[in-house]
Amino acid sequence: MFFSKSLAINFGLSIVALFVLALSSAAAQSSINVIIPKPQKLKQGKGIFLLDRQTRYLADTPLSNDALRYLQRQLQLTSGYTLQESPSPKKHILAFHYAPQKIKKPEAYHLHIDKKKILIEARDRAGFFYGVITLMQLMDPSIWQQKAAAVQKQCWQIPACMIEDYPRFRWRGMMLDCSRNFFSKAYVKKFIDRMAQQKLNRFHWHLTDDEGWRIQIRRYPLLTKIGAKRGPGTKLPFSTYPAMRGPKNRPQSGHYCQQDIREIVAYARARAIEILPEIDLPGHAKAAVISYPRLLQDPQDRSRYRSVQRVSNNTINPGMESSYLFLENVIAEVAALFPFGSIHLGGDEIPRGAWQKSPAVRKLMQQKGLKTTKAVQNYFFGRMDKILARHHRQMIAWQEVLEGRPKLRKDNIFMAWKSPKAGIKAIKNRRNIIMAPVAFLYFDQQYIRNKKEPGHTWSTPVSLQKAYSYRPAPHSPYLRGVEACLWSETLLNEQIADYLAWPRSFALAELAWTEPAHRNWDDFKKRVYGKGVQRLKAQQIHYRRPR
Ligand code: ACM
Repeated sequence: MFFSKSLAINFGLSIVALFVLALSSAAAQSSINVIIPKPQKLKQGKGIFLLDRQTRYLADTPLSNDALRYLQRQLQLTSGYTLQESPSPKKHILAFHYAPQKIKKPEAYHLHIDKKKILIEARDRAGFFYGVITLMQLMDPSIWQQKAAAVQKQCWQIPACMIEDYPRFRWRGMMLDCSRNFFSKAYVKKFIDRMAQQKLNRFHWHLTDDEGWRIQIRRYPLLTKIGAKRGPGTKLPFSTYPAMRGPKNRPQSGHYCQQDIREIVAYARARAIEILPEIDLPGHAKAAVISYPRLLQDPQDRSRYRSVQRVSNNTINPGMESSYLFLENVIAEVAALFPFGSIHLGGDEIPRGAWQKSPAVRKLMQQKGLKTTKAVQNYFFGRMDKILARHHRQMIAWQEVLEGRPKLRKDNIFMAWKSPKAGIKAIKNRRNIIMAPVAFLYFDQQYIRNKKEPGHTWSTPVSLQKAYSYRPAPHSPYLRGVEACLWSETLLNEQIADYLAWPRSFALAELAWTEPAHRNWDDFKKRVYGKGVQRLKAQQIHYRRPR
């Protein structure tokens, strides 16, 4: 009697054990569809790899160093150990293999995981880095914690799979406006790190605008002494429409010194991100103009105008040689700080009425035979293009610069931010274009129209689904990629910035990376509101919850 009862209990337990085993293997089976952006090719394998302190790594190339370091840092934080190297590991191995014969595309990688081995193959630093990012997305979301874990996780289950992956676009950008509201060095690093986690690779850093000049230029110290301060007791008022919704009763200031910038450039580089600095010219330049009025404005100019944001007299004068000398010196320092091949010179929203009563501009027009304001704008960007060429930099600018049909170097790139139509037309005219259409990719806009929602309201709302629905086209070598913009007029603090950026940045990442044939809204939504937001929570990112 006793015997048979215990048999029955044992039998019951084994059924439970079998059930649990079946469940956990089902969980392992279903757990590979968690990656954002979705890989181009993804196939389930059998079983799981257990990563723990016994796991060893092996690399036959220094190109995987950044990727390995990134993983090791997270393991140290969450598990309290890092992987040791072993030249001839028998089992439990994470291997990085340089495979230029097999992997032809830049930034591409293959990831093969079975019970015994994780193999990441690539041909460049970015490819190895993205292999590790995908690997970490296959791990428990707690791997993304940014603080040392109270309870350290010793063992990570990683489902077996085979992934072959590459990006659709080489330019996968995000812009953060640090002029309207200043963001600390620590937040800029966080922003860059979160981009890297989604395989975004161009951080467009909007460093100057009417409301603040945020980059130290040694030759012109007043740019940050005067131009980085706004509010009561400063020369730079809070701008009007509708820029600051926060407290206006105290001055604000902030800038990045050159050492900060070098640190941030290195931080981004270790995450396969290039930084595109933007010095917005000749409009959107109130901060520069009030800092050096004698160099940048014609004292005889009787023009009175306001920008679309209602900022008065905010434009650098293109008729004065001192403007070009100033800008050449600024560009020399910017080029020395940023090793990236391009500099963004703005060119957007030059106010109507600027320079019209400037004798210096009138003289320039006579001398050079320039008939219209657009012709003057072309002249200005022609000079700027030559300055950039002297510093071996491409020019990137907003689409308005193209509207005047300037004669510029062919390899320059333009950002189409208005309707996608204008961008498509420019692509047909063989201009290099990055698409950043306001209706889909301006993440400073509200998600939905509602008074309680943070964000701007001057364009249409951009829901997660709207952002995801964007189809960059046409297929062309002149379509260089896509970018989302986070202008900061309403970004009064980091929480608002996080909220507006997440989860929409997931949509940006997927439309920038994944071929259209592999994109699907329902599938995307499941990944976002499953592991996607769990990864955000692990990092305490203040994302917008669905409602
Ligand atoms: C822009 O939104 N003014 C580029």
